[in-house]
Amino acid sequence: MKVIRTISEMRNWVNATRQKGKRIGFVPTMGFLHEGHLSLIREARKFADQVVVSIYVNPTQFGPNEDFDRYPRDFQRDERLCRQEEVSVVFYPTNDEMYSPFHKTYIITEDLSGVLCGRSRPTHFRGVTTIVGKLFNIVQPDIAVFGQKDAQQAVIIKRMVADLNFPVEIKVAPIVREMDGLAMSSRNKYLTPQQRKEATVLYRSLQLAEKEYADGNTDIQSIKSKMRKLIETESSGKIDYIEAVDAETLDAPQLGKRDTLVALAVYFGNTRLIDNTILKKQN
Ligand code: PAF
Repeated sequence: MKVIRTISEMRNWVNATRQKGKRIGFVPTMGFLHEGHLSLIREARKFADQVVVSIYVNPTQFGPNEDFDRYPRDFQRDERLCRQEEVSVVFYPTNDEMYSPFHKTYIITEDLSGVLCGRSRPTHFRGVTTIVGKLFNIVQPDIAVFGQKDAQQAVIIKRMVADLNFPVEIKVAPIVREMDGLAMSSRNKYLTPQQRKEATVLYRSLQLAEKEYADGNTDIQSIKSKMRKLIETESSGKIDYIEAVDAETLDAPQLGKRDTLVALAVYFGNTRLIDNTILKKQN
């Protein structure tokens, strides 16, 4: 496994790999890898000969009062895990390598980036699309894998790839959960033991939505208010949002007629956790 720190070296590797006719799979990450990331690497391997993982905590997707500085980092551990997963290349660039001091260009997906998480993180998705666009141009993957946990991110990346004709196929891999249902996230590390225990209510609230829907409740407002009540009564979590939107377009939902994304963001102390489920359309 190679660790590559510069764009020019990455390009050389990409050119050599392409010349050999090999397909490149790509998993962009911000490091501090967990089982969720490893599942993305395994998914990428199914469709590619060589897998590239990028590890880069991207400053432009963090707001001024967010956790960029304290975002967990452990490169040695990440490197070990990537080696175990037989990753071909870890692309681990510096900030200077990724952003020139004169950087002025951003990719914006209109509308999609202003809803759900975009309401409380107004510049977040612009940072995500910009860095992912840059990484796609550097790594030139045939396929790239993203996690369903960041459902809005996956919708936005797919839109960006279609709109800007990036020659890459996007795969979305299922959410990986801890034994008690909490969705895996690098940010779970911030939780106190009490918050960690309480945070299981997020998955239970999504299961409640699934059960309500399966039992015939198609009133999305009533489903959302039951979820809210459960979270508020069983935890100290402060709800940022509980929303239901069309799973493909993020427009107003048509529950029953089209797949509906039920997504939430809840603060436990300063830690903002997200999770979601899809209520499938009924045939
Ligand atoms: O999902 C993430 O970890 C990040 O948003 C990504 C896609 C690596 C871009 O920095």
